[in-house]
Amino acid sequence: MSRINFAVLLVLGLLLVTAKQSMQMSLRNPTAEIETSNCKIAVLRVGLVLTSENSEKALLDSGLFTNISDVEIAGRTFHVGTLDNTPIVYVKTGSQTVNVATAVQSLLLKFSISGIVFFGNAGSLDENVLVPGDVLVPEAVAFTGVWEWEEFRAQNKGKLVFGNYNYPENGENLLGTAAPQNITLYSPSEDPEEVFWLPVSSSWFEAATEELKDLKLKECHSGRCLPRTSKVVFGLKSSTSDFYVKNKAYGDFLLEKFNASTTDAASAAVALTSLSNGKLFVVIQGISNIVGVESSTPEIGYIASQNAFHVATKFVNSIPTQGLACE
Ligand SMILES: *[C@@H]1O[C@H](CO)[C@@H](O)[C@H](O)[C@H]1NC(C)=O
Ligand SMILES: *[C@@H]1O[C@H](CO)[C@@H](O)[C@H](O)[C@H]1NC(C)=O
Ligand SMILES: *[C@@H]1O[C@H](CO)[C@@H](O)[C@H](O)[C@H]1NC(C)=O
Repeated sequence: MSRINFAVLLVLGLLLVTAKQSMQMSLRNPTAEIETSNCKIAVLRVGLVLTSENSEKALLDSGLFTNISDVEIAGRTFHVGTLDNTPIVYVKTGSQTVNVATAVQSLLLKFSISGIVFFGNAGSLDENVLVPGDVLVPEAVAFTGVWEWEEFRAQNKGKLVFGNYNYPENGENLLGTAAPQNITLYSPSEDPEEVFWLPVSSSWFEAATEELKDLKLKECHSGRCLPRTSKVVFGLKSSTSDFYVKNKAYGDFLLEKFNASTTDAASAAVALTSLSNGKLFVVIQGISNIVGVESSTPEIGYIASQNAFHVATKFVNSIPTQGLACE
């Protein structure tokens, strides 16, 4: 896609996202197909990305997905269909960032996609703000598991000082320190750039905030109920790494040094791949546990999946289904 086409698509995308219901209805039934140089008005599907069995179960159990066809690419099944009448393609990527990125890239190459909606579970790093059952729509995500591991007693110390965590007393530790690293963001319209935070598309973030602010969430599953009313939180930052974080001291480190309120193993991979393709995206995280404080039970984990799916569905249904598809 050329830069100009991308700009046209972006402007149109912004217009469409801010459009309200009535316009959405008329767009669903176009009378004419407008052709420009190599772009045309077409049905755009929302790319719905999930990583786990539980997330897929929440989708299938809802009865809202209607299957049209399945497409196999690189060992993943891409399910083409509708979610509550909105055209989507959903894919279960499998876990860890390489699997997530591979599946998102395949989705974007093979289908005409308006943007990526990712939903999945995450651990809370700040129990004052996010507890199990809550859903977070963060405004930025980062890979926080990419390190330069410094030499023992190196002059330049990394932010993570292992000696600070010696038990029962702080002291020296042969592991030394590790410094968080930036990641190279490749994108269609800019030169490659070293970045740490990956911002969620502001137009979709704002649309989600508007669309979802009063949403009621589920609080019980199989007789287990949450201790308090769940809420959708907009804003804050999320951390992604290829390790599952159960350790309280490390969770506190992520909160203090990066201001990250959640941890997962997928969101930043969705973000980086979407940004690299110049695609809109949004991240929706269901809180399943509080890192180092409260582990997830199967029931609570499933409520988190259902709540994240519920928020994702509401958002998907607010996205216009027509847009410019450019070759
Ligand atoms: C979806 O539809 C296709 C084509 O009709 C079919 O081959 C496939 O088995 C269906 N998948 C599911 C999960 O129902
Ligand atoms: C990482 O990127 C940020 C901008 O996102 C920049 O401010 C910072 O200096 C970079 N850090 C390194 C070590 O390159
Ligand atoms: C962390 O986030 C809070 C709330 O958004 C903000 O007030 C604070 O300045 C941030 N701290 C750092 C170190 O970025």
